Amino acid sequence: MDIRKAPDPHALARQAAEYIAERIAAVLSQREHCHLALAGGNTPRALYALLRGMDLSWSRLHFWFSDERCLPAGDAQRNDTMVKEVLLAGLPLPQAQLHSITAELGPEAAAQQYTKELSHIERLDIVLLGLGEDGHTASLFPDNSALAMQNRAVPVHHAPKPPAQRVSLSLNCIREADERVVIAAGKEKREALARILAGEEVPAAMIGEAVWFVDEAAIAGLCGEAPTQCQQ
Ligand code: 6PG
Repeated sequence: MDIRKAPDPHALARQAAEYIAERIAAVLSQREHCHLALAGGNTPRALYALLRGMDLSWSRLHFWFSDERCLPAGDAQRNDTMVKEVLLAGLPLPQAQLHSITAELGPEAAAQQYTKELSHIERLDIVLLGLGEDGHTASLFPDNSALAMQNRAVPVHHAPKPPAQRVSLSLNCIREADERVVIAAGKEKREALARILAGEEVPAAMIGEAVWFVDEAAIAGLCGEAPTQCQQ
């Protein structure tokens, strides 16, 4: 488990932004486009603000979403609303390069539509994910039936983190991506990280090999306890 430790959330955002920019450039040195799935929640805000200020060959980027909440389009609590405000505001990104999840249609219809849209690419290049306090990632929650579903995008019901209805990339889709990057900040994520380092099978541990960017509050006292690479 490749853990990159930052002293605070701002340093975490900076380190993750530099890493993601580097990985995007690596993809674009091999291919015409880079398909990047974006994490929701609050942690990525600072990261997206930094990426917005970087020269990322934007015209060759396709933005997907790791998950979306089933709320009306434009709702402030939707993940794509935050991305449009923080990462993409003022960017002349063609609509065809922003692949929002039509979660306002409801979990089943939106998951079916997103799976179809994802079928047009071989795989995602980079999937950016957050970590929930219970070990969830994207909208894949512990013991939720969505974990076992095989399609690339899956409907989520009874999510313990509101709203209860969501759409998520499946474990399969996350695992088949070329690269996974997880970001986690704050002491409220420490318990989930401890369980992952202890080898517990929580969704965020099931995604396979990933680069983890964590801040000191989330990892304090944990790095020494596990056979893991824990870079400063
Ligand atoms: C969501 C996210 C979810 C998030 C984690 C962490 O829609 O809520 O996709 O997976 O990444 O819950 O959220 P925070 O970054 O806000 O702590």
